[in-house]
Amino acid sequence: MNAVESIWNNSNHPSVVSVYAIAVSTVILILWQYWQNRYSIPTYGGVLSFSRVLSTLKFVRNGREETLRTYKEHPIIVLPRPDMWAATAHSKYVEEIAKAPDDALSFMDAVEESLQMKYTFGPNFTFEHYHVHVIRNQLTRHLSGLFPDVFDETKQAVSDLVGEPENEWKTLDVTSFSQNVVTRASNRIFVGLPLCRNEKWLALMISSAVSIVKVAIFVNMFPAILRPLVGWVSTTVKKRLNEANDIAGPIVEKKLAGGTNAESDDFMSWLISNAPEKERNPHDILSRILMTNFVAIHTSSMTVTNCLYWLLARPQYIESIRQEIEEVTSRLGWSKEAIGAMPKLDSFVKECMRITPIGTQVMMRKVLKPFTFSNGFQAPAGMTISAHLYATHHDESLYSNAGTFDGFRFLEVTSDVKDRKEQGETDTNVRKTMYTTSKTFLAFGHGRHACPGRFFAAMEIKLILAHLIAAYDMKWPDKVYDPSVPGYTKEGYRPPDEWYAQQIVLNRTAEMMIRKRA
Ligand SMILES: *[C@@H]1O[C@H](CO)[C@@H](O)[C@H](O)[C@H]1NC(C)=O
Ligand SMILES: *[C@@H]1O[C@H](CO)[C@@H](O)[C@H](O)[C@H]1NC(C)=O
Repeated sequence: MNAVESIWNNSNHPSVVSVYAIAVSTVILILWQYWQNRYSIPTYGGVLSFSRVLSTLKFVRNGREETLRTYKEHPIIVLPRPDMWAATAHSKYVEEIAKAPDDALSFMDAVEESLQMKYTFGPNFTFEHYHVHVIRNQLTRHLSGLFPDVFDETKQAVSDLVGEPENEWKTLDVTSFSQNVVTRASNRIFVGLPLCRNEKWLALMISSAVSIVKVAIFVNMFPAILRPLVGWVSTTVKKRLNEANDIAGPIVEKKLAGGTNAESDDFMSWLISNAPEKERNPHDILSRILMTNFVAIHTSSMTVTNCLYWLLARPQYIESIRQEIEEVTSRLGWSKEAIGAMPKLDSFVKECMRITPIGTQVMMRKVLKPFTFSNGFQAPAGMTISAHLYATHHDESLYSNAGTFDGFRFLEVTSDVKDRKEQGETDTNVRKTMYTTSKTFLAFGHGRHACPGRFFAAMEIKLILAHLIAAYDMKWPDKVYDPSVPGYTKEGYRPPDEWYAQQIVLNRTAEMMIRKRA
């Protein structure tokens, strides 16, 4: 007889116990029905769906399979995320989300809630977004002029990490290698020399993201009514800004004092000239620079890591991409134009982003007024909507052999001119490139709110990879070429992705060997 039975049998009031049991199960049932009927949209987790944590537990052991299954079986389903519930839509509905007006499906409100920007960046971020304008416009327009700096910093950073001697193999942690190179190359643009080589500054930029995401998830664990209190207690904004100010305050101060005019042509000057008068102080300018770093460096460095993992996993691509790089740079030199004229490299990077996107959902929107999808699903105000990213990229009806890595898959794709004109591209004679979004390629989102930094990111990522492929040899350490190692396949070893419920995370400890080519 086990403990539960003995309590039941020894209970003096069995009828009371059963009344309780009935009462409790009735309450659970009502809660469940409430959740199921709350929206005309099903909620993941079945009986557990009244709780985000319990519902997430159902995901834990097979996140990838469950992500693909929910996509196949449900046009829209409410899925648990670490920060919130999000009704996640099949790729069939991506255009509807992309085209919905902002006063119905709001991008900014979703970002605000998911990041809890009030407590992670400061109250002004909720209503003032001038840095987005700077990224979308000035940064993108100046890419050709910025190229030499990004190239120079990339070469320096790689050389500092790998060392100069030719033909000498060095073993490096891929994640921190990519992080370091991307952070330096990006900050060469965001803050310039000498700050972009300042160890303290780089460390602060890299560590900030972790602390921001932690605070955001923590605040989101509490009901809305408690968030101001929890946010006030847990916020790290002041501490981070003070640290940034200690390192970079005087530099910004000088820039502010020098006055910015049409001739100042760097990122910080663009920020200063676009900032509202009352935000033209070191503190506030630095908070925008921290935000720019937050959105730029982790997404880009994870993508570089991802591409290196695939490149080492499929080394047969190296030679033909290297030939392309040598041919193009001998004709055009190293320039933005040259990097844009490497279709094989472009296709390879795009395929990495397709098969291993750095997330499973994309295009988050907060419903501000009830929104009805073409299939009749009604999203009530207050709900968060998103689109399936990972599952869309693995949809067999959109990509043949979707589960197989095919580095030159995108070489043959002809351009969908209408799609691209809608996105404001004028030069629609060129092929679709990795930054061209569509309802089937969602790594940068899609529509009006697609990542505004994707043109800079695409240039930077391809430039870093092109430089590594042209000037270095890379391979896995010998120990992974053993069939007993997880991640080993006949096609080649790739460190397995980690899945935490429905979050996908690249392996964070894999090492590669690298040496300068003679
Ligand atoms: C926000 O804006 C106000 C002025 O409106 C400014 O005084 C303040 O320093 C800004 N920054 C933060 C982090 O609150
Ligand atoms: C990540 O890759 C390394 C090196 O290939 C391996 O030893 C490690 O077990 C992997 N980590 C996970 C969590 O799979």
